Amino acid sequence: MKKQCVLVAGGAGYIGSHTTVELIAAGYDVVIADNLSNSEMRAVEGVRKITGIEVPFVQVDCCDREAFRKVFEQYDFDSAIHFAASKAVGESVEKPMLYYRNNLTSLMNLIDLMHEFGRHNIVFSSSCTVYGEPDKQPVTEQTPRKPATSPYGNTKQMSEDILRDSMKAFAGMKGIALRYFNPIGAHPSALIGELPRGVPQNLVPYVTQTAAGIRECLSVFGDDYPTPDGSCIRDYIDVTDLAKAHVAAIGRMVDGKSKSEYEVFNIGTGRGVSVLELVKGFERVNGVKLNYRIAPRRAGDIIAIWADPTLANTELGWKAERPLDETLASAWKWQQSLK
Ligand code: UFG
Repeated sequence: MKKQCVLVAGGAGYIGSHTTVELIAAGYDVVIADNLSNSEMRAVEGVRKITGIEVPFVQVDCCDREAFRKVFEQYDFDSAIHFAASKAVGESVEKPMLYYRNNLTSLMNLIDLMHEFGRHNIVFSSSCTVYGEPDKQPVTEQTPRKPATSPYGNTKQMSEDILRDSMKAFAGMKGIALRYFNPIGAHPSALIGELPRGVPQNLVPYVTQTAAGIRECLSVFGDDYPTPDGSCIRDYIDVTDLAKAHVAAIGRMVDGKSKSEYEVFNIGTGRGVSVLELVKGFERVNGVKLNYRIAPRRAGDIIAIWADPTLANTELGWKAERPLDETLASAWKWQQSLK
């Protein structure tokens, strides 16, 4: 039987590269489309080293519809995953138009072209940011979405709506939005991982760069929140586990198991971990001492959020498996490989 092919838009990025590896491991062919605006060819090279497969790579801006169209003319994929978006919350406040233009145009082009070329299945990278500050923990897919607090968050909500409405309109097409919690860690081989540009905004890259001596001191943003140790709580999900959720989502659509044309799943572990717990866990697992201090709260941070992943567990047959300690060790191993 001919192998199914999957287009991975944004496949040179952090989650895209890990997902490409897991798709190949599951027997899919993959085509990567990426404009390398926030990613590097070394990720594609890392995928080749891990899998032994030279994945076709097209450098293209998915916002450029005519250029993107050529990928559809050239490759015969029936499924696509959309990672081709900008993701820095703070930057989105400074440059809202960039975020609306990039994130929405690339998705709309993908949906339109999939429809035009008679291709069927789309997975979209959504985020737990759509829940805002939830009234109840853990959050389920039924937890109401709250008004977004950043243009980035707004693009995630709007993109979900665009996918939902278009899948309803385009008979035969199916979409799944995966609401990621906080992806961290790197591939066990340390051949691919997160490559933040400039000063990292996210916790784990800042932690690893501090441990490596690139940053002097980690600021823990707030220890006076109404949580057990006063720091914020998140659901940290290993990036390889997250990647496997995409494989499960594609498989569900390919196998005709979707219960409706548009579905949403939380992708998290179900376990809330505080910033201080994560920092101490990192020190313990890796045998390093982190220079950190308690700093004022960061504007816009939510206090606590973690997933109820039951729906993904039962419907997708997917479960987060990698223990947090292993994930924190992989993040450190990756950082050290960057020297
Ligand atoms: N934090 C620090 N110090 C740092 C960086 C982060 O204490 O230097 C804290 C934050 O205050 C927060 C936690 O670590 O409490 C996690 O922060 P991240 O920036 O790593 O992640 P966020 O939860 O703020 O944001 C992430 C993604 C977004 C996504 C959001 C959804 O980066 O893309 O989750 O809630 F929208």
